[in-house]
Amino acid sequence: MPLTGAPPNAPVPASLRLFYALWPPPAVRTALAALLPAVQGRRVKPANLHITMAFLGQQAASNPPVLLEIADRVSFTPTLLSIDTLGYFKRSRVAWAGMHQVPSALLQARAALLDALRETGIDLDGEAAFRPHVTLARDAAPPALEAIGPIQWTASRIELVSSVAAKGGVSYEVLGR
Ligand code: 2AM
Repeated sequence: MPLTGAPPNAPVPASLRLFYALWPPPAVRTALAALLPAVQGRRVKPANLHITMAFLGQQAASNPPVLLEIADRVSFTPTLLSIDTLGYFKRSRVAWAGMHQVPSALLQARAALLDALRETGIDLDGEAAFRPHVTLARDAAPPALEAIGPIQWTASRIELVSSVAAKGGVSYEVLGR
């Protein structure tokens, strides 16, 4: 069975652009999408909203089985994320939604993910601060407001996601579903 959902006779890519993410359930996605009008810039498509747990970049197309097994292993007990703030990364000009209080379960899951990847020979730079966020817009201006009515998101699964360049911009596909 093809992993990427491509038609059976489509050419098999040599590599895939991959990342691990928390993928919002539909009601949470709808609530996150309702924040988009509050930010200016190149807004993310509602279908693409997510929290990145680790960015892998180009990986051999034969890698996903190992990487999916890691996603299973580091998924965590259901944890409530309270998305209660808008923020801005000045350097990358990204406007985002995030949490005042990042649950320790999320930080532990990120550490476990980096450890598991290292064991398979994928050594990501774990030194940079991990600031989990939902990117809302790129080339953005700082959001005018900060506090938002919290969006409650119970997360537990870390998904492996493939990023594909498409006509209307990038599209993401959750693998292994
Ligand atoms: P961002 O949302 O903060 O832009 C897929 O590209 C996801 O991986 C995006 O959510 C992006 O984060 C994240 N990511 C992290 N590091 C990246 C990098 N070096 N290049 C592209 N995306 C990266």
